Parts: sequence; structure tokens; C-alpha cells
Amino acid sequence: MDKYSETNRSLWNGWTKIHAESELYDLDSFKNGRCSLRSTELEEVGDVDGKSMLHLQCHFGQDTLSWARRGAEVTGVDFSKDAIDLAKSLSSELEIPAEFVNCDVYKLTENIKGQYDIIFTSYGVLPWLRDLNRWGEIVYHFLKPGGIFYIVEFHPFASMLDESGENFEFPYFPTGDAIKWAVEGSYANPDAEFKHDSYEWAFGLGDVITALTNAGLRIEFLHEFPYSNWNCRPYTKEIAPGRYVYPGLKHELPYMFSIRASKEQA
Ligand SMILES: C[S@@+](CC[C@H](N)C(=O)[O-])C[C@H]1O[C@@H](n2cnc3c(N)ncnc32)[C@H](O)[C@@H]1O
Repeated sequence: MDKYSETNRSLWNGWTKIHAESELYDLDSFKNGRCSLRSTELEEVGDVDGKSMLHLQCHFGQDTLSWARRGAEVTGVDFSKDAIDLAKSLSSELEIPAEFVNCDVYKLTENIKGQYDIIFTSYGVLPWLRDLNRWGEIVYHFLKPGGIFYIVEFHPFASMLDESGENFEFPYFPTGDAIKWAVEGSYANPDAEFKHDSYEWAFGLGDVITALTNAGLRIEFLHEFPYSNWNCRPYTKEIAPGRYVYPGLKHELPYMFSIRASKEQA
């Protein structure tokens, strides 16, 4: 394993415990039946009952199991062993059937077989991927003819801003190499006693679209949203239930985007 994967995997192993205990992930209410999926993906993915679904970069499985509660036959994939171990234990504790596979997205063809009606991935996944063209090919490979791919992700424009939302601090366009950060705490609990390095990759919206279309998928829509569904920046404020923005800006910013793409029928 290279230093990027090794460092990031160890980071996510460390974050899993912090996240499982965090208010942001609110595991207790999830165990009591709360659906962790946001209205955005619920509406834009649509009915999943009886459909086979592959969830890429599923973390510790709350969303995976939420799709399963809605009737999907779902497989979650993540390269963090701690996250997958927790996902499996939640699946058995809550008696929600789902498969979980501990592997790198880039090694997926060596680890699982078959094709799926829906491939889903969400919120905070792309910055960890060094090669979006290869990622697009993997998505294409695992989709059934006529199947759909759906992503909802933080917008790369808003990701350029620092915590205050006042300064452009981070790159939009890919910089060629990984960007190394010294992480303290976690987005889910900034006060957690935790220090680790991370390696992340910048991407523009065009890189995502091009990766998917080059792989052979047809884009059904690209939506951009003037709010975030996640309150994981210290200075954002809630403007409507579950919608967060930087307050006091003259114009709206794009905080998230979603893409739905399909694979042609055979
Ligand atoms: C922010 S989480 C996204 C999941 C979901 N939105 C959530 O917050 O629960 C990102 C996930 O990507 C996983 N990840 C990062 N790089 C990966 C890779 N190359 N292969 C598989 N999983 C990866 C991490 O382990 C982490 O669980």
C-alpha cells in the first residue's frame, strides 16, 4: 500500500470511533430508527425497494443501513477496517441485512463480483480519490445496463473557502499531487484529542462530469445547491431545518452538487 492510502486509511480508522460517539452522527437516534439520509438523496435517488445497490465509501454504514431499511439489497464498501467492522456490528445488532466489504474503491474489481441497479456515494468522498477517471470506470463496471449512478457531494467551489467563509484558501483545480494536511480533531468533533496527517486531492466539477461521461455514462442531471445539508463547518448557520450557509454574504454560494447518471440499456 502506498503512503497516501496507508495514511488516509489510518486517519479514517481513528475517526470512526470519534464519529460513532459524535453528536453529528447521532448513533443512538439512528439505532432507534432515524433515517440518516437527507431529503436531497431520498428524492433524487427515488424508490429503492427491491433494488440492488452498491454504496461506495460508506463509512460506518448509517446511510447503507438506511437504504436497507427502505428495502434496498445493499452492499457498502469502505477501506477503513474499523468503519466496516462497526457497520457489520450495527447490521447484526439492528437486524438490518446488508453486505459490507472492506476494500479500497480502486481494488473493487478484485474484491466483489456482479452488477447493481444503483450505485450511490455521498458527502465527503471525492477529495480522497486520486484518479477520478479510474473511479468513473469502476462505477461503470459495476452498474447494470439501465442502472443509475448517484452522487451528492460538497461543492468544490465552497470547498475553496477557509473555515470563516471569508477567504479563498484552497485550490479548485487539481494540483497534480496530493495535498497534505495536518488534521486535528475531526469535522464531526473539532475538540476531539486526535492528530493525524491526511492526503487529499482537489477536483473541479468538470473533472467529475468528464470522468463519468468518459467512462460511458449519460448525465441525467447536475444540480447545485445554495446550502449544505451538513453542519460541519464552525461558522455556518441554519437557515431552514437541516440547511446551513455562511451568514451575511451578498450572494448565494453553491455548497453541494448532485449528479444522476445512467448506463445505457444493453
Ligand atoms: C466522509 S466519509 C463519506 C461517507 C458518508 N457521507 C458519511 O459521512 O458517513 C468518507 C469515507 O471514504 C472512505 N474512503 C476514503 N478513501 C477511500 C478509498 N480509496 N476506498 C474506499 N474508501 C475510502 C473513508 O474511509 C470514509 O469512510
